[in-house]
Amino acid sequence: MHPLQCVLQVQRSLGWGPLASVSWLSLRMCRAHSSLSSTTCPSPERQEDGARKDFSSRLATGPTFQHFLKSASAPQEKLSSEVEDPPPYLMMDELLGRERKVYLETYGCQMNVNDTEIAWSILQKSGYLRTSNLQEADVILLVTCSIREKAEQTIWNRLHQLKALKTRRPRSRVPLRIGILGCMAERLKEEILNREKMVDVLAGPDAYRDLPRLLAVAESGQQAANVLLSLDETYADVMPVQTSPSATSAFVSIMRGCDNMCSYCIVPFTRGRERSRPVASILEEVKKLSEQVIRPPQPPKVLGLQGLKEVTLLGQNVNSFRDNSEVQFNNAVSTNLSRGFATNYKAKQGGLRFAHLLDQVSRVDPEMRIRFTSPHPKDFPDEVLQLIHERDNICKQIHLPAQSGSSRVLEAMRRGYSREAYVELVHHIKESIPGVSLSSDFIAGFCGETEEDHVQTVSLLREVQYNMGFLFAYSMRQKTRAYHRLKDDVPEEVKLRRLEELITVFREEATKANQMSVGCTQLVLVEGLSKRSATDLCGRNDGNLKVIFPDADMEDVNNPGLRVRAQPGDYVLVKITSASSQTLRGHVLCRTTLKDSSANC
Ligand code: 5AD
Ligand code: SF4
Repeated sequence: MHPLQCVLQVQRSLGWGPLASVSWLSLRMCRAHSSLSSTTCPSPERQEDGARKDFSSRLATGPTFQHFLKSASAPQEKLSSEVEDPPPYLMMDELLGRERKVYLETYGCQMNVNDTEIAWSILQKSGYLRTSNLQEADVILLVTCSIREKAEQTIWNRLHQLKALKTRRPRSRVPLRIGILGCMAERLKEEILNREKMVDVLAGPDAYRDLPRLLAVAESGQQAANVLLSLDETYADVMPVQTSPSATSAFVSIMRGCDNMCSYCIVPFTRGRERSRPVASILEEVKKLSEQVIRPPQPPKVLGLQGLKEVTLLGQNVNSFRDNSEVQFNNAVSTNLSRGFATNYKAKQGGLRFAHLLDQVSRVDPEMRIRFTSPHPKDFPDEVLQLIHERDNICKQIHLPAQSGSSRVLEAMRRGYSREAYVELVHHIKESIPGVSLSSDFIAGFCGETEEDHVQTVSLLREVQYNMGFLFAYSMRQKTRAYHRLKDDVPEEVKLRRLEELITVFREEATKANQMSVGCTQLVLVEGLSKRSATDLCGRNDGNLKVIFPDADMEDVNNPGLRVRAQPGDYVLVKITSASSQTLRGHVLCRTTLKDSSANC
């Protein structure tokens, strides 16, 4: 067995899964190997002090058979207040952070932002401190993305910079530990440990609970990895720690993984099977967030400190949500898909669905805006559309990833719908939710995409007139169906030219769509100062578009006669005076509440 492979297997199995009993054997093999070879598992700092030698001798003793029996049958989720029993080869205090400083860096999507907060919540409970200064960090963790080649290249480049930091580190300080978390850890596994010897810790998206143990193993100079995917890990009991205390909005993860298997996408392989978090734990988190205080830069004059004002429900497929944790809801009612849509998997039944969750979440606090991302177009039954239309605090904003405007390409992508079905859904949504703001994802240059297919995508962009768009050049990913069955045959320069064309058309159409708001009065949730000007404030409208307006005195509708200045977390009415493809501008009319607002479009 290759030494790195053996370490990986050791750590993987120590995720307390069914392989647990193998771990002890593999660990011993790894140690035996290390005494024979110079390219051994432990990295160079391993013989540094007596404590580590002591650790190694305990490793040799290894866990007992009874221990594995116990851990194999232990329930997966523990209450966050419970202290984990240390594995037998670690002492309790070795699992503790001992005030080591952790620097976390996030790449990729909003799920990764939320994962960073989860990882940090776990480490904080273990006694680690957080730093935003790279130079003072003892542990650097990169939360990574694999969705496109470019995202991974960015991480490799970053690792090279960090390598220099690690090499330059004075011997008087504890050795710097570097960890790769998330999708890239899951996708590349051994390759990262092999290619970048200075990476100490690998933790896949379902292994963040294991971080204290992985870091404790890394302390001894060994590389440590846990890339086990889980069928039920949702981190339901881990309250993510919000990074920015003045933020007006928060993300709440409601489900993880994806079963859709679109042919271009790596996500089902890096994040695993779809699973939903129990409704009760989501509601509990939303309640806590609504009570959490925003700390504005200056104390507000009237309203006092207030709770967070916006929650975005997060998941790879939010609207496929299905909480099967309550037995009584496991009935045989089959799923309503959007008309003309199909799934790549066998129909699922029962459970509490997204409409139920959305209803419950929106009742927690009528002053809290609710958004969700990222949905799949197949899961928009009328109950969901109706609810979005009816409830004041559910934003009338829907992300509807199309990916292509050509039915032929959509079939090759295995998206489960044709262009016609997608367009019909768009019309149905626009009728059901007047004024709805739509956004989408598109991929340019997928396998076999012809000029005619591309023209169809351009025409879809014109037809729908999205308010926001996320456009990408296709990037072939190993393991996916497209990698195995299709040819990445659109030349790079053609992909980029088509992407440019899509961006241009999207901008033109978004500008037109956004200009419809000019002259309207819109409800804006204030975020803070505009980045470009100290005299302007910035916030978001219901459609999630950025709105910029001068910081001026205004009336507070709940305190007639009182002049106030807007603070982060305030709702204000703004009269829109101009629009571009990405931003609206206007002037503020008054401070109000979500319930009392009289936005007119
Ligand atoms: N290449 C380019 N874009 C991709 N996406 C997913 N996989 C790929 C890929 N291999 C895009 C899709 C998806 C968004 C999150 O990323 O548009 O909706
Ligand atoms: Fe990837 Fe498709 Fe799942 Fe989205 S729905 S995460 S594009 S497989």
